[in-house]
Amino acid sequence: MTYDLKNKKLLFSADQINNRVCEMGRDISEIYFERDPIFIGILNGSFIFMADLLRSLTIDCEMDFIKLKSYIGKESTGLVELIKDISADIKDRNIILVEDIIDTGNTIKFLRKKIYDSSPKSLSIATLLYKPDVVKLDFNIDFIGFEISPEFVVGYGLDFNQKFRHLDSIYRIDKPINANLT
Ligand code: IMP
Ligand code: MG
Repeated sequence: MTYDLKNKKLLFSADQINNRVCEMGRDISEIYFERDPIFIGILNGSFIFMADLLRSLTIDCEMDFIKLKSYIGKESTGLVELIKDISADIKDRNIILVEDIIDTGNTIKFLRKKIYDSSPKSLSIATLLYKPDVVKLDFNIDFIGFEISPEFVVGYGLDFNQKFRHLDSIYRIDKPINANLT
């Protein structure tokens, strides 16, 4: 894939992200004090956010990952496919789903239903990024890092066709040049 990252625009610097993730960690630590939550990170996008968020906590917790696929290139397929399930027993536990970004909301809608089917004690959702102009949900997102406009972003775990997850800041990207969108 060829992509001209010269046109990328900084949206959130590593410092801005770090400050906000620490604030989220503090809020979650207060609310979940002595509730021994299980954090479930949604792979691949949440892996960096999950690592930083958990290291900012001051409470005991457990963690697991689930892997879904809902995106091809820049276009949502509208379909969500389960690729790797959780192994933790979540019945009667306090669950926090950790997502990198909520765009249409299809992924989180699918997962929320799946988690509720396993009878947790409680379920909340933490996302680093949220696109309020795109999302259509009939439930609240409990912890939001930043609200953003409907542009496509990469970095800090977020990819375009699996690339750019390693960048420590978050960037907006323009229309890709010679990109493979399939
Ligand atoms: P949703 O199901 O439309 O809410 O999309 C959720 C998934 O799409 C996220 O977990 C991301 O993997 C991916 N996604 C949505 N918007 C972006 C973006 O701007 N950059 C990178 N990935 C995105
Ligand atoms: Mg993705």
